[in-house]
Amino acid sequence: MLAELALHLATPASRMTRQLGLVGESVALWSRGLRQRRAWAGHHARCRDIVAQAVAALPERRTAVILGSGLLRDIPLDLLADNFERVLLVDVVHLPQVRLRMRLRSNVALLTRDLTGVIGWLAGESGGRSDPLADLIADPAVDLVVSANLLSQLAWPIEDWLADNPAEAAQLPADLPACCIAWHLDDLRRFHGRVLLLSDVEMIERDRTGKITDRLDLMHSIALPNPDEGWDWPVAPFGEAARDLESIHRVGAWRDFR
Ligand SMILES: C[S@@+](CC[C@H](N)C(=O)[O-])C[C@H]1O[C@@H](n2cnc3c(N)ncnc32)[C@H](O)[C@@H]1O
Repeated sequence: MLAELALHLATPASRMTRQLGLVGESVALWSRGLRQRRAWAGHHARCRDIVAQAVAALPERRTAVILGSGLLRDIPLDLLADNFERVLLVDVVHLPQVRLRMRLRSNVALLTRDLTGVIGWLAGESGGRSDPLADLIADPAVDLVVSANLLSQLAWPIEDWLADNPAEAAQLPADLPACCIAWHLDDLRRFHGRVLLLSDVEMIERDRTGKITDRLDLMHSIALPNPDEGWDWPVAPFGEAARDLESIHRVGAWRDFR
């Protein structure tokens, strides 16, 4: 509890980023990941393995861009830093432990960015969406882009904020949360290098008899091609969120998304 509070206070973030719950979510993800280290290990290992295979297959390794880098649990950072001239870690929140770790690596840089491109719009600072990846898309040295379990996280903070702020919501497109998912996929398609997409796409809740009690389309009906492979990530095993319910997320990997 104290460690979580300290992380909240020590993490730099804009007012709107905090209001959207993104700092709280990063801190919660850090502590849940510690509690569920074993349950999540298979998912993280599989993601890291797929990234490593993409690295091995590349003819050139100049810049690698990791979108939604967060705590880097699903990313083989040492392998990337050893193989690429430059590694850019892009996230709306970088927790202090990640900032400290990066100081040891001279070719790794942190970029703090909102990858929905709409936080400034919600805050009234702009009249529309920004193009959050324009500079990186224009950079011909970007040989690898990994969208690292980010996609499913783009819509819900916007959805919650719109529900809590009906007057502002009335001035914004009603389908803004789903648009954030669609825009990220469009952004990925605009890169020139190899694009690897890793994302959970569906939540399935089950009781102890195995009966499905709830299902949620994390993609808000935005269509994706069939993934190259998929697996289940036990995000909340029995006892994590509810004593007699577990939440499993279905994850997909698209090895060459463009
Ligand atoms: C499920 S976590 C995965 C983090 C990381 N790949 C890992 O496994 O440690 C999703 C990440 O997306 C980031 N994120 C959520 N909304 C974002 C936004 N609008 N722009 C940039 N990053 C965002 C969160 O801060 C978080 O680090």
